Amino acid sequence: MLRNGLIFLSDSRAAKKLVTGTPLRVMSKRFVPGETVEELAEAMVDANEKGLAVTANYLGESERSERTARAAADTYLKVFDRVVADGIRGNVSLKFTQLGQAISAEFLAENLGRLLERARAHELFIRFDMESSEYTQHTLDAFEKLWDEGWREIGVVLQSYLMRSEGDVARMNQLGARVRLCKGAYSEAASVAFQARADVDMAYVRLMEMLLTDGNYPAIATHDERMIDATVRFAEKESISSERFEFQMLYGVRRDLQAQLLDQGYNVRVYIPFGESWYPYLMRRLAERPANMLFMAGSVIKESPLGRLWPGNGRTRRDP
Ligand code: FDA
Repeated sequence: MLRNGLIFLSDSRAAKKLVTGTPLRVMSKRFVPGETVEELAEAMVDANEKGLAVTANYLGESERSERTARAAADTYLKVFDRVVADGIRGNVSLKFTQLGQAISAEFLAENLGRLLERARAHELFIRFDMESSEYTQHTLDAFEKLWDEGWREIGVVLQSYLMRSEGDVARMNQLGARVRLCKGAYSEAASVAFQARADVDMAYVRLMEMLLTDGNYPAIATHDERMIDATVRFAEKESISSERFEFQMLYGVRRDLQAQLLDQGYNVRVYIPFGESWYPYLMRRLAERPANMLFMAGSVIKESPLGRLWPGNGRTRRDP
């Protein structure tokens, strides 16, 4: 119930107004390093120095104004230029609805076209994030259309909570397209998505195995140690080299696990979101793990004048 409540709040303008400018904004920096390309670049360089590859995401979705959707594409162009200028080991992840999917297919094609051209010129990869199930078919159709036109430095995301995903994984493997596998972050109906955690996890393992066996450099995106262990065990059993896939995690989440996997010789990429629209993203992270609210509240107190009275201040804490 709490998860659904937090997902509901992620859409609420009134709730956003309440938290903007509060300590919650300050603490969102744990998950969103900043609002500008400059702040993003610092976070990307820092991650690369730790051995992590990155994927940058300019926060935003559900754009209905052409002006804002164009501005979002312009920001991505700046990110591409920055990745190249700073020699960053990274790519970008973007959402179709941010670039105008809800405006029209033609507008999206034109706006996205500018990014594809620039990405091709710089030999950069673009990942299309997956949004709620009302967009799944549109997103996969748009992806296949681009694939048919010869674009290859592009990839999709599939969600294990959706019952349809097994067919979609098979199709993407057939195309040779790169897939990021995640559990899924939206609130979905029982008619389209598994509701029980055990079913979502079982599907995750099944899809991971399909991707590791037949996929093209899949990304196993999760912070769930059981999913990670299952991946490591399956790869070992099937003699699949660690070079043939990568793990992905979100910025600020399980940094201990990110470092551990790197130490074990796995490729790890961190998804770094940035921009002014940090609020819905933050609420989804809280919905995934409501204990993050306590974690953030603790950090706010720790960094305030009251923090001097906070027990254990200054000691390293385990990542949530
Ligand atoms: P799960 O939610 O079961 O959590 C397992 C454990 O991981 C928790 O017990 C906790 O220890 C830790 N954990 C998980 N989330 C945490 C958090 N926020 N803070 C602290 N600890 C946490 N979704 C989507 O619908 N479309 C997309 O395109 C993407 N893209 C994407 C990219 C990348 C790189 C990642 C890692 C995730 C996504 N997601 C996504 C989000 C994904 O669908 C899912 O909501 C989250 O990853 C949480 O699921 P887990 O697999 O981590 O497991």
